[in-house]
Amino acid sequence: MEQYAMKGGSPLVGEVEIGGAKNAALPILAASVMTDETVYIENIPDVRDINVLLKAMGGIGVLEKRTSRHCVTINASQVHTLVVEDDNIKKIRASYYLIGALLGKYKEATVALPGGCNIGSRAIDQHLKGFRALGAQVHIEYGLIVAKAEKLVGAHIYMDVVSVGATINVMMAAAMAEGQTIIENAAKEPHVVDLANFLNSMGANIKGAGTDVIRIKGVTRLHGTEYAIIPDQIEAGTFMFAAAVTKGDVTVKNVIPKHLESISAKLLEIGCEVEESDDAVRVVASKPLLHTHVKTLPYPGFPTDMQPQITVALALGKGTSIVTESIFENRFKYVDELTRMGADIKVEGNTAIINGVDKYTGATILAPDLRAGAALVIAGLAAHGYTVVDEIQYIERGYEDFHIKLQSLGAQIEKVQTDRDFQKFKLKVG
Ligand code: UD1
Repeated sequence: MEQYAMKGGSPLVGEVEIGGAKNAALPILAASVMTDETVYIENIPDVRDINVLLKAMGGIGVLEKRTSRHCVTINASQVHTLVVEDDNIKKIRASYYLIGALLGKYKEATVALPGGCNIGSRAIDQHLKGFRALGAQVHIEYGLIVAKAEKLVGAHIYMDVVSVGATINVMMAAAMAEGQTIIENAAKEPHVVDLANFLNSMGANIKGAGTDVIRIKGVTRLHGTEYAIIPDQIEAGTFMFAAAVTKGDVTVKNVIPKHLESISAKLLEIGCEVEESDDAVRVVASKPLLHTHVKTLPYPGFPTDMQPQITVALALGKGTSIVTESIFENRFKYVDELTRMGADIKVEGNTAIINGVDKYTGATILAPDLRAGAALVIAGLAAHGYTVVDEIQYIERGYEDFHIKLQSLGAQIEKVQTDRDFQKFKLKVG
């Protein structure tokens, strides 16, 4: 089993290039099955979730070809089944985007129920409600979601909760429904906007993405397009907090600073300097970290996917901080691991009460999920001594070349497989 071994204590310094947003690329790849023409997509991150989705799409007859590591052409004119049951697809959350996409185009889809990170109950009722409002019959049987419609007809849909996934899924199906759909209380995340832009570039008529009311006039046909995915807000935010936690000086490049504002604001509050330019943000942490309070919220609020990373920083901040997780109820599982590294954190329900400590000390820890895994790596890089992070397959679901990018910033980190590798690493870094 692969692990990350690291020796903490060196400030991260330098520049790091941020890749395409996983959570935008997933629905965009799924939506590319909605035309028989060829679609060319750039800035696709080379991470496990994406590769699993592409493989599952291949399984239903979609021709996908990587023209380079981050570019792919998709042609869905040879789709031969509308049943997506690939073994791995259950493991990723985004499998369900194929329902919206296939239902929109073919008025029929059967897809294995989604998995993804175990961070809460992750209901899909709003997705199903949206499909039903458009006229589809939807039921769940034998672990599959089965959706079918004679035809899809636009509807006025009020989402009971702000859901990224449901907004995206309903937007895809509605793009090829008859007449107008209005989604109220829609999610406003950058990847919702990116998908809308992508669909519009294929000939869809979607307005208002990025606000909480999205208006979609259905079209009968979508055509091929060329498109580049937006930069990954969460990958960028993770490196920004890595700078803060290791007392470093890191510039994240190829980003949209606007998407990082809630993250930059918190870094300023805890005493870091943040400099923005057109497509880069520099974080300098030259002073001791301070405490603050944070509550995760839908965009433009502080992202739940950055909650473990900010907690790792606050646990080294002077004073008491409170982190409230308002999106997913089970997202503090990593706190036990952080406690083993010396953090003083008490979790009560959806709130973490954090008393800052002077330092972390290295330990062998488990990555419980994708973002928490990345946050624990950052903690290890700040810790005194050696840390080994196990179960790094979670981290690789969403971070491309994570340890290589960290190495380029001066981190002493390596991927190891055995205890022997770890001993060798220790001898090397001294
Ligand atoms: C997406 C992201 C995930 C991020 C999350 C919130 C992807 C692949 N994943 O997940 O990284 O943490 O947005 O920004 O893009 N809910 C319902 N009913 C539904 C749908 C959701 O009650 O039908 C609830 C969820 O349980 C959760 C909240 O709404 O409490 C937000 O979930 P949602 O925005 O849908 O998250 P995902 O799309 O699953």
